[in-house]
Amino acid sequence: MDGLRERYLSEIAAATDEESLEELRVRAVGRKGEISLRMRELGKMAPEERKVAGPELNALKQEITSALMARKSEIADAALDERLRTEWLDVTLPARSRPSGTVHPVSQVTEEVTAIFADMGFMVAEGPQVESDWHNFDALNIPAEHPTRTEMDTFYMSHAVDQAHPPHVLRTHTSPVQIRAMKRLGAPLRVICPGRVYRADYDQTHTPMFHQIEGLAVDRDISMANLKWCLEEFCRAFFEVKEVQLRFRASHFPFTEPSAEVDLRCSWEGGRLKVSEGDSWMEILGSGMVHPKVLRAGGIDPERWQGFAFGIGIDRLAMLKYGMPDLRAFFESDLRWLKHYGFAALDVPGLHRGLSGAA
Ligand code: PHE
Repeated sequence: MDGLRERYLSEIAAATDEESLEELRVRAVGRKGEISLRMRELGKMAPEERKVAGPELNALKQEITSALMARKSEIADAALDERLRTEWLDVTLPARSRPSGTVHPVSQVTEEVTAIFADMGFMVAEGPQVESDWHNFDALNIPAEHPTRTEMDTFYMSHAVDQAHPPHVLRTHTSPVQIRAMKRLGAPLRVICPGRVYRADYDQTHTPMFHQIEGLAVDRDISMANLKWCLEEFCRAFFEVKEVQLRFRASHFPFTEPSAEVDLRCSWEGGRLKVSEGDSWMEILGSGMVHPKVLRAGGIDPERWQGFAFGIGIDRLAMLKYGMPDLRAFFESDLRWLKHYGFAALDVPGLHRGLSGAA
């Protein structure tokens, strides 16, 4: 029995994890363990023998069981110590320096424009950048043979060029979201739809990807006068000035009738853009009364409803407001440029304290 005792106690002392301890327990004091089997043999012994062996075996079983438990908690303590050692952290160290990025002017201006129109009761709607031919063109009264399709320098997706499945396009404007919003919300409605748009064009004031905000208001008796008021109100709030000078030019879009393009007076003197000064005009948006065919494509009865729509170039607005002469710099990911023109992440635009926080 002493041999048994020594063997198990030394094996227990040598165990380094819970699994080997459990295996030892089964082997020694489990139902079919060595000590349990010996206990079963007690019945076959002579009474005197049993009187001695019984208590001894019981004591041995006790001793091994408590040795197992003691070793188990030692192993657990050691594991905890190890964790505490590796997960140690010096909370008195100074924090890491903050990331050096700032909010991009396009994001800032999108927030500003959204804040202004939200204040006039417009809600935000969105649509996909890879758009169906139908939403981007047909539904907007631009049939297949219409010259606008080539004028817009459309990027076509490469697959499925057949009559039954016209190719998808990278949307050339946010106007397809007009159709999606009308279908989803019905009349009356007031939405703005900010997002990325794409055209194959590249110079100082054009990049192949740029940003627009579409506006759409449909109701019983909406007129061109409402459109003009909204846009003037918007420009005053956006440029944070009492007066801006807008020029409404008669124009043509297939999806509006009548249509107007709107220019803003500005100056480019010394390479810096300034609003409401000088003799230059910068086109910032297209607009007009929604064409009856477009209302119908959106599931709205043009006999009962009418509305205005506009599409504003967000990047142009950013250039004007923050005096940035070259649009291409917007998308060059130059941190020096961003640090110069970027905005702090916590300056959320709101009308109550001046949009850009400058007021
Ligand atoms: N979608 C036109 C463009 O991208 C702008 C526009 C929108 C004009 C809504 C009229 C009405 O040029």
